Amino acid sequence: MDKFLITGPCKIRGSVSISGSKNASLPILAATLLFDQPVIIKNLPRVRDINTMLNLLKSLGSKVILSKDRKTAKIVNKKNMKTFASYSLVKTMRGSILVLGPLISKYNNSKTSLPGGCLIGARPVNYHLEALKKLGMNYELKDGYILAKSNGKLKGTIINFPKISVGATENSIIAACLAKGRTILKNCAIEPEIKDLTNFLNKAGAKIRWSGRICKITGVECLNKTEYSVMADRIEAGTFCVAATLAKGNLQINNLNPRIIGTEIKLLKKVGAKIKTTENKILIKGPEKIKSIKSIKTKEFPGIPTDLQAQLMVLMCKAAGKSSITESIFENRFMHVAELQRLGAKINIKNNIASIEGNTKFIGAELMSSDLRASVALVLAAIVSNGKSYINRIYHLDRGYEKIENKLKKIGVKIKRLK
Ligand code: EPZ
Repeated sequence: MDKFLITGPCKIRGSVSISGSKNASLPILAATLLFDQPVIIKNLPRVRDINTMLNLLKSLGSKVILSKDRKTAKIVNKKNMKTFASYSLVKTMRGSILVLGPLISKYNNSKTSLPGGCLIGARPVNYHLEALKKLGMNYELKDGYILAKSNGKLKGTIINFPKISVGATENSIIAACLAKGRTILKNCAIEPEIKDLTNFLNKAGAKIRWSGRICKITGVECLNKTEYSVMADRIEAGTFCVAATLAKGNLQINNLNPRIIGTEIKLLKKVGAKIKTTENKILIKGPEKIKSIKSIKTKEFPGIPTDLQAQLMVLMCKAAGKSSITESIFENRFMHVAELQRLGAKINIKNNIASIEGNTKFIGAELMSSDLRASVALVLAAIVSNGKSYINRIYHLDRGYEKIENKLKKIGVKIKRLK
């Protein structure tokens, strides 16, 4: 298994380009199952989760033609597609559940594996199932699979999500595109990745309109041949912004509309970072002394994303004073804490609140990655640690950060991948 060796502390200088968003690409790729016509998706990130989704589409019968740089995929669906999403593919990536909505909507039939639990939380899919049931999907759970059928086309209806869910909103929007009549989804997630999905679907002829957390979808007969470029990855951009703030960096971040990380930029300015933005660039200078923030709380968009919680915790460890971080989306997303403590962090966990001492002098150590964002937090901590850190199980990072070691090397981080 590959690991990273990082020798810190490192100076961060230069520029970095943000890749396409993993969490926008996944629902867009799943939605291509709705099409009879070819679809071209551009700006895909070259990360393992995208390969998993493309393999899932292939297993269902889609022909996937990748460009040389693997950032563009042309997807052509067969006349007779399969509707079986196997456990072996779904278990490696929970986002695979996003094929259920399009399969049931287009083919009125599907056998899709239940994703199972995950280190960061139980992550059930009950809201996906309840919403699709309201649209006309009948299902039973058997041997770890969702056996689903519908009696012809799905039918538009009103769905009020009991809790905001990114995946359940996406699955329902995709499914409702070809349903008969009008669907009104209330209490939707409104993450930029979901808006990217609806921009893509509207470009292909879907009829989707937003008003706050309400999404109105008028079903259409079919979607048209289309080409679409996926938005930039706001979590990757946020991670680089934290890196620059943490390491007294001087960084230019290219290829991203700064407005989609407005909340994060505001928070980083509060801790002392100097930030200038243009239409598609961020210039960020880290402060000499990082100010602590009393209370940070993760929240659905436009709040502080849970996917940036671990990285912000590293920042608060280095801040001059006490702080606290409340994780309000997932029940077990503090896996990085024990590893940060191995570097010298003083963090106390009580329920879903982490109290952080601040003024930490990190000393390099051997570390273990647990999930994607926890892993990148360990990379950030190693960058500002004294001495060598070895980060094991970096396959988690390869799931969602494109060529992270190349990007980090280019901006001054002493990082090596050991095979
Ligand atoms: C998406 O996961 C992202 N994944 C996650 O990114 C991200 O952390 C999360 O949204 C929150 O922003 C993708 O986009 C592929 P949810 P998702 O449904 O859709 C509970 C990363 O690191 N819930 O909004 O699974 C759930 O357990 C990943 O890139 C139910 O109870 O998140 C959680 O507590 C990790 N029942 C909360 O809702 C359901 O049916 C929000 O989950 C669905 C969700």
